[in-house]
Amino acid sequence: MAFSGTPKRLAGATLVASALLMAAPPAPADEAAARAAIEKNCERCHQPLPGGGWEVMTEAPHDRAEMTALLRRMAEEYSAFPSPQERQAIIAFLCAWE
Ligand code: HEC
Repeated sequence: MAFSGTPKRLAGATLVASALLMAAPPAPADEAAARAAIEKNCERCHQPLPGGGWEVMTEAPHDRAEMTALLRRMAEEYSAFPSPQERQAIIAFLCAWE
């Protein structure tokens, strides 16, 4: 029958559309590194929030100096020890957080 191919094509189009949705917005490498470092070192205490961000961590803005001091405190008081590279990625990412 003439329309037998239509449902398959539609399903294909839906798949492509959802793949595009999942890929957007394009994440710069630093952001990916920061998110991976946060997942590894911080999420056991700072749960990711449904609307983006993390509990407590992203509730107030902090500049680079504050974020550096906070990370030192997270290590001293909460045993969060990201590597130096992870720490740089986290600081750059979080002090640009709005
Ligand atoms: C063992 C639990 C624990 C871990 C691990 C942890 N934190 Fe925290 N963090 C807390 C708690 C509790 C607070 C709130 C109380 C305080 O400031 O001491 C906090 C506060 C913060 C704040 C301050 C928020 C504000 O505006 O006052 C930031 C930023 C933060 N954490 C970032 C991080 C990052 C980044 C990591 C991972 C490298 C991390 N934390 C790992 C428990 C943790």
